[in-house]
Amino acid sequence: MRPRCRWSGGECIDLYLLHWRGAHPLRETVLGMLALVAAGSIRHWGVSNLDVDALAELAAVTPAGAAACATNQVYYSLSERGPEFSLLPWMCERRMPLMAYSPVDQGRLAGNAALARIGEPRGLTAAQVALAWVLSQPGIVAIPKAAAPEHLRQNFAAAEVSLSAAERARIEARFAAPKGKTPLAML
Ligand SMILES: NC(=O)c1ccc[n+]([C@@H]2O[C@H](COP(=O)([O-])OP(=O)(O)OC[C@H]3O[C@@H](n4cnc5c(N)ncnc54)[C@H](OP(=O)(O)O)[C@@H]3O)[C@@H](O)[C@H]2O)c1
Repeated sequence: MRPRCRWSGGECIDLYLLHWRGAHPLRETVLGMLALVAAGSIRHWGVSNLDVDALAELAAVTPAGAAACATNQVYYSLSERGPEFSLLPWMCERRMPLMAYSPVDQGRLAGNAALARIGEPRGLTAAQVALAWVLSQPGIVAIPKAAAPEHLRQNFAAAEVSLSAAERARIEARFAAPKGKTPLAML
């Protein structure tokens, strides 16, 4: 049975994220998160919008194992591949999943004609191709937002799509990998 929150009587929060770095020392935030885990208010904790330098600082004060930071949620999509240069490798090395927000670029990739052409022979929409590509990257989970039931169904189906090497090459020819370090993009 799940632990119940002491403060609300409701169920425990599965994953609680620090939205961005903010003004408070990371060490204090980590201690606060660990106190919430110990109190049974949250099961796991993580961060968002942190680049390698801040994650390295966080790692110095974060315990290992089950109490460690569960994820870093950042803007990552075909149109925003910056995290691949150093952030994603850093996180993969430490087996910390990167949670991709806005993975269909807030709906913009759904209207991309090149992605629609790549998906058409398999009956996939442009948004599904974009999402399948994000999910095919190592160490990635994605959180597309969809209010339309049809979009929700398509996004679940995209999670089952395995792109061929030829499809990946066509996609990546249109959306190039980063050639250098860029500041972490945020929405
Ligand atoms: N941590 C942060 O700082 C941060 C920043 C931004 C966003 N986020 C989070 O990331 C999540 C998603 O991000 P987002 O909403 O910005 O962008 P997104 O998921 O890339 O795009 C959402 C838009 O795409 C449309 N869409 C979704 N699936 C589609 C499909 N299969 N076909 C066509 N259109 C589709 C949605 O339409 P409908 O809704 O009409 O279905 C909606 O307009 C949200 O939970 C958000 O809170 C976090």
